[in-house]
Amino acid sequence: MTGPRRPPSNFRFNLRRAGWCRAAALACLFILIAPTLSSLQALTPTPGEISPLTDQVVDQRVNSLLKQMTLEEKIGQLTQIGQYVEDTLKPEERIRKGEVGSVLWLSDTAAINRLQHVAVEESRLHIPLLFGLDVINGFHTIFPVPLAMAASWDPAMVVQEQTLAAREANAAGIRWTFAPMVDIARDPRWGRIVEGAGEDPFLGAAMARAQVRGFQGPYVGSPEHLLACAKHFAGYGAADGGRDYDSAYVSEDALRNVYLPPFHAAVEAGAATLMSAYMDLNDVPATGNKFLLQEVLRHDWGFRGFVVSDAEAVKSLVTHGFARDPQDAAFRALTAGVNMDMASRTYLAHLGQLVKNGSITRAQIEDMVRPILAAKIRLGLFEHPYTDESRVQQILQAPEQQEFALHAAQRTMVLLRNENQILPLSTNVSSIAVIGPLADSASDLLGSWGAWVGEAKGVKTVLQAIRDKVPPSVRVEYAKGPDIKRDIPAIFEDIIPGVKHQAQTPAEADMQFTKAVETAGHCDVAVMVLGELGSMSGEDASRSSLILSGGQQKLLEAVVVLGKPVVLVLVSGRPLDISWASQQVPAILEAWYPGAQGGNAIADILFGDANPGGKLPVSWPRSTGQVPIYYAHNLTHRPETDKDFKSRYWDLRTSPLYPFGFGLSYAKFAFSNLQLSRTEMGLGDNMGVSVDVQNTGSRAGDEVVQLYIHQQAGSASRPVRELKGFERVSLQPGEKKTVHLTLGKNELIFWSPDEKKWVEEPENFDVWVGEDSTAALHANFKIRK
Ligand code: NOJ
Repeated sequence: MTGPRRPPSNFRFNLRRAGWCRAAALACLFILIAPTLSSLQALTPTPGEISPLTDQVVDQRVNSLLKQMTLEEKIGQLTQIGQYVEDTLKPEERIRKGEVGSVLWLSDTAAINRLQHVAVEESRLHIPLLFGLDVINGFHTIFPVPLAMAASWDPAMVVQEQTLAAREANAAGIRWTFAPMVDIARDPRWGRIVEGAGEDPFLGAAMARAQVRGFQGPYVGSPEHLLACAKHFAGYGAADGGRDYDSAYVSEDALRNVYLPPFHAAVEAGAATLMSAYMDLNDVPATGNKFLLQEVLRHDWGFRGFVVSDAEAVKSLVTHGFARDPQDAAFRALTAGVNMDMASRTYLAHLGQLVKNGSITRAQIEDMVRPILAAKIRLGLFEHPYTDESRVQQILQAPEQQEFALHAAQRTMVLLRNENQILPLSTNVSSIAVIGPLADSASDLLGSWGAWVGEAKGVKTVLQAIRDKVPPSVRVEYAKGPDIKRDIPAIFEDIIPGVKHQAQTPAEADMQFTKAVETAGHCDVAVMVLGELGSMSGEDASRSSLILSGGQQKLLEAVVVLGKPVVLVLVSGRPLDISWASQQVPAILEAWYPGAQGGNAIADILFGDANPGGKLPVSWPRSTGQVPIYYAHNLTHRPETDKDFKSRYWDLRTSPLYPFGFGLSYAKFAFSNLQLSRTEMGLGDNMGVSVDVQNTGSRAGDEVVQLYIHQQAGSASRPVRELKGFERVSLQPGEKKTVHLTLGKNELIFWSPDEKKWVEEPENFDVWVGEDSTAALHANFKIRK
């Protein structure tokens, strides 16, 4: 651990993260191969387990601590520092004085234990620290990014993914992850779409629940788990123009029906913490937003955990033009309901004075401290503050994690096109050209958080995986083609190993282009691995255009013109503009950022050792001009079925290129026999929906049965379709299964802007069931008055 230093730029948070990440990465170089661990099954929490601590016991312990604490020590619990945050004091000094409740971005176990020792042995009340980190899609073993997890449509797999991530991070001393991100995103220009579950509140809520369960286990304090933190509360994904951090203007109706359900699901699943977002929501910054933090979160949902601000968001209330000065910012954030100030130390500097001048009462401070102390008690930190360093590598090196990473990556990829069954490829060819700037990149497979917390060392690229897959008789040739790059802050180069891609001169780029086309020209098949570098998606990574950047589109066209079979593999954190490819390239596979085993998973799918079964968690636009785009839009004055005046762009269709829920398989599926358990029911009743799905192909495969509804009339216009149920099923060739889903009050209510409350309305409904959001099997039912 090094002492504090002055960061050189505006991106000093990232620099600090880099320092810590590096420390962890270095530690990993000295890993010893460890014995294998118990089976994955054993890691999955058993339903029904309950916390060994009752609320009463926790409350008593919190009260007894509060009685002993000075005002300064209480404010300290509301303060989270990062070691390299610009500061006049060393972290140890602040911790010793009781000025720190939590530390973020530290991942090195020895460093964690050292700071914990200061808190537990050298501070007056010995209150342990809570260490938090962004464990988004893995800690040491990197799994597919959250958008890919959603594409699995498999919540059970997601529980397991985050259970394993929690296990690794917990072993290293982390007790709190800043995940899941449950922001709905309907505009793929927004870079953070990669961190969430996409556009849909129902799928988003299912993924939120699964991730909270995976991270936290059955109760707060479950062994080998973490506190979850649902973020960014709320509306962050609705940023104007898809620009990161920009204001969001979202009606209460849209908030309640679309943006909040995944947060509510996370809270209902027991998420111990939430993070307040950076941006203005309807002109009030989320970090000072009483409507969100009091009315919705605490009053309506009964949330009893604690809220942490996003990094420096308390201080930023001044930047927003909302708070007059930092003291006013501390006042507004605390009185709105933010318990913990991440990284800005604005609470530490100003809350004491606010109490002294009577603006804030001691009782208000205590109320904000309570859930933080309660979380530490439930985590068992007072009894077990330290982490066993000798155990860390054994956990991180367990082969099960890599096996699971492969399984997860295979389940998350989406096959978008497969004309004439060009896939799976035969290994009975003489040569394969593997082409593109992402074909031989390891770090870009991990996504931005994955490349930061994990490491690319030892990660097999797509090129290497293809080489390993095919027999020696097959010649595999590689050409990178022209580089793609984004102008990244120089500081990123320190953070993510390999993020700096050498800029080619125009002459070199031309040469690489020619070489790539030539390589494709003398091989039997071309696999083009195109898309986005890891740094092109995520925080601070919004784009004004979704095109295949750099020379990629041109290169693709030049290779296709050769007339060879071409397969396009997309590595990306968002849907890209592939309208041309969707007509001209016979096979397209969206691999997302698939994680440490992504190269192997891609090779498995390309050569038929795995069968793709993922489905899109977002509508795939035809071009950037269509965004925001989502399937659950309302009917218009002139729907597309109108004879005239039906188009909303005269130069482009309004439908997406690929609909929400879409994805192909090497198997074929047929849906039939849609049955409703009744055609009429009363308010509050349940309706059974069943459908037969059969694998009519010759290979085993997975289909996702999707159920959509439409309420035909009511106190508000309702979306043309809304997802209200799904199940991923595996079927052998010829096998048929009947899938049963249920529609009840939870699925049928909506927030009525007219009545300002949740309503279930006696109206007529459509039901569709099938393979995506354009499903054709249809039925009707009615809810009686
Ligand atoms: C800022 C990001 O917006 C948030 O998602 C993250 O959890 C924090 N930094 C901490 O790294």
